Amino acid sequence: MNQNNGGKTPTDQLGRPLRDLRISVTDQCNFRCAYCMPKEVFGPDYPFLSKNEILTNEEVHKLALCFAELGIEKIRLTGGEPLLRKNLVPLVNCLSQIDLVKDLSLTTNGTLLPRYAKDLKKSGLNRINISLDGLSPIVFKEMSGGRGEPAAVLEGIEAAEQAGLEVKVNMVVKKGVNEGEVLPMVRFFRDKRITLRFIEYMDVGNSNQWRSKEVLPAKELLDAIGKEFPFQPIDPSYRGEVAARYRYTDVPAEFGLINSITKPFCSDCNRARLSANGYLYTCLFATSGHDLKTIVKSGVSRSELTKHISGIWRARKDRYSEERSSQTNSQRKIEMSYIGG
Ligand code: GTP
Ligand code: 5AD
Ligand code: SF4
Ligand code: SF4
Repeated sequence: MNQNNGGKTPTDQLGRPLRDLRISVTDQCNFRCAYCMPKEVFGPDYPFLSKNEILTNEEVHKLALCFAELGIEKIRLTGGEPLLRKNLVPLVNCLSQIDLVKDLSLTTNGTLLPRYAKDLKKSGLNRINISLDGLSPIVFKEMSGGRGEPAAVLEGIEAAEQAGLEVKVNMVVKKGVNEGEVLPMVRFFRDKRITLRFIEYMDVGNSNQWRSKEVLPAKELLDAIGKEFPFQPIDPSYRGEVAARYRYTDVPAEFGLINSITKPFCSDCNRARLSANGYLYTCLFATSGHDLKTIVKSGVSRSELTKHISGIWRARKDRYSEERSSQTNSQRKIEMSYIGG
């Protein structure tokens, strides 16, 4: 139980407390990763959210205060690409001043960090997770939909470290596409003492044509890394952490595996997700969300809003990754770029 909020933390139908909030601040991105925003689908005619649909910083702040009252201790800002939101730094600044929130972080593709890293740190951001799917420019382009260069992401990583932010790197692995980049990435980030996490390619959204044979199972990854470097499993750094952690036994560095397909972690899932247009989703694989934006705009009191959110969480039963089947896979799900992973 959260000790700081007078025991108001709701638990859902499966006994899971509300603990983390992921806020998507935009559904736009400057990349077109095939596993997330394939360019054939996310072209010029894609119905992205319009400016007036997107929550203002004040509305996001008001909602975050409600969530904090309910026991949220961590907030992660996501997208799309969150750094494309023009007024992100002031948003970070006001969220970082919420007392009960102990950890404020961001997930980004890194390309705009040379411009923003220092200001984000000054505004109270603690940590950054940066996506990078390979060091080879050819493989990287294949993963990112022909956009960007690995060198630009590496500059972003450097800028974040220089600014004093805690950095982790996320690599989505697609069998037969970038699996050859796994060991070069391991060597590179191990030398830099930066935590690299491998993410199993997931069946999020409806656009990525996901097939299970494109998932590189964790066991194969561990075998490949173990042939080169000794390591051992270590405890999670917080309850409900999505990554299984491993530490190298010969250098002070670690890596992680996010095995949402082969080893689902729904039983500890304490994450709520807020979309850029103010819908609350209780699972990454949800088929529909709860409209909070209309309620925020109607000017109801914060305590009413908090009560409403608490009720949504109490009714929650989601455990998609544990139930994954051909039947659930055919349902219409929300897109990753909209809900932020
Ligand atoms: P830390 O706070 O650093 O542990 O971050 P995180 O791993 O929770 O967040 P990040 O944005 O770096 O996400 C890494 C990967 O985990 C992404 O592919 C997310 O989509 C995935 N992920 C995060 N939370 C969940 C979840 O609740 N369910 C599933 N299935 N995947 C998740
Ligand atoms: N499967 C696994 N991870 C994904 N991400 C985006 N789409 C997928 C997918 N289909 C990752 C991004 C980023 C994080 C927020 O989610 O690469 O690291
Ligand atoms: Fe953009 Fe991240 Fe999606 Fe790639 S995975 S298209 S960088 S939001
Ligand atoms: Fe949580 Fe849904 Fe992911 Fe399971 S599939 S861990 S319930 S977000």
